[in-house]
Amino acid sequence: MALNDFRDELAATAAALAAPGKGLLAADESTGTIGKRFDAIGLENTEEHRRAYRSLLATTEGLSEHISGVILYEETLFQDSTAEAGSAPIVELFQKQGIVPGIKVDQGVEPLAGGVAGESWCTGLKGLAERAARYYARGARFAKWRAVLQISGSGAPSELAVRENAWGLARYARTVQEHGLVPIVEPEILMDGDHDITTTASVQEWVLRTTYEALAMNGVFLEGSLLKPSMTCPGAGCPTQASADEVGEFTVRTLSRTVPVAVPAILFLSGGLSEEDASLCLNAINQVAAQGYVPWHLGFSYGRALQHSCIQHWGGSDVAAGQAALLARARANGAASRGAYEPGSEPSDDASLFVANYSY
Ligand code: 13P
Repeated sequence: MALNDFRDELAATAAALAAPGKGLLAADESTGTIGKRFDAIGLENTEEHRRAYRSLLATTEGLSEHISGVILYEETLFQDSTAEAGSAPIVELFQKQGIVPGIKVDQGVEPLAGGVAGESWCTGLKGLAERAARYYARGARFAKWRAVLQISGSGAPSELAVRENAWGLARYARTVQEHGLVPIVEPEILMDGDHDITTTASVQEWVLRTTYEALAMNGVFLEGSLLKPSMTCPGAGCPTQASADEVGEFTVRTLSRTVPVAVPAILFLSGGLSEEDASLCLNAINQVAAQGYVPWHLGFSYGRALQHSCIQHWGGSDVAAGQAALLARARANGAASRGAYEPGSEPSDDASLFVANYSY
């Protein structure tokens, strides 16, 4: 099949994911990363525990009021739920709720030869067409590819890193569209560093401009794609931290300068913000957007900021408490994506979720 065979379907999937007041649950932690989350609650990282946790997510009643899609790791896409959840494939439990399943298709980052120390390129293009077809057959309708850039005093991001990561995103996006999957284009700029918010803004403009140039060169169908950027924030070590309102102003300015109007939605990652801060910043972004002409749905695709207190409350056994915590943050972010979140109105764990040089 060719991209043309999928245009209508891709646009319909992207529009469904961009539903007002909703966003994505990024539950695609690799086996290593979910292990770190389990470590924090003293739980062994076994297949059974991963099954139990992802079954909890998939059986949270009412989740689809705030969540339009879920990003899964390959193991979960092909995994059955627990006996308590009925043993059906986990992907079917999400589908039954009306939540569109997606799949992480990148295979992680590697050091970028020729780049500045610490820079990376994202792997996973080899065999991607075949994998995309297999994921589609199993029910996935969108995909994610996370490219990572950093800002450092020693010259990062280099032009090499910006171009290589933009090109990888574009090759991935074109490839999965030819197999019916909506690409989430994720050029994450890490919060590591002590740079200020204006530095982030100018680097992010460069990164997004280069990314959309590469997407155009590869003939990516923008109406059937989504952007998942980091918010325009200062570095985590910057002495002058920004208010949510400033993040809102800078983020909307950056995006309005660089993202084509044809893109249906921009779904932010949380990037190490605390649960409450991720909701407050998304809320501010939507309030700023409401003051002017902004064509896209501005929602969320959070991993840590949706699941942190869920995992803590679950603790490996208390399913109801975990689900209540997940639902609370989903409600908060659903409201924030309409610019209608009342600060502090939903419970959260205010722990900082920032991890230096974060890998997913
Ligand atoms: P965080 O929201 O935890 O940054 O993760 C989202 C994600 O999917 C990163 O690729």
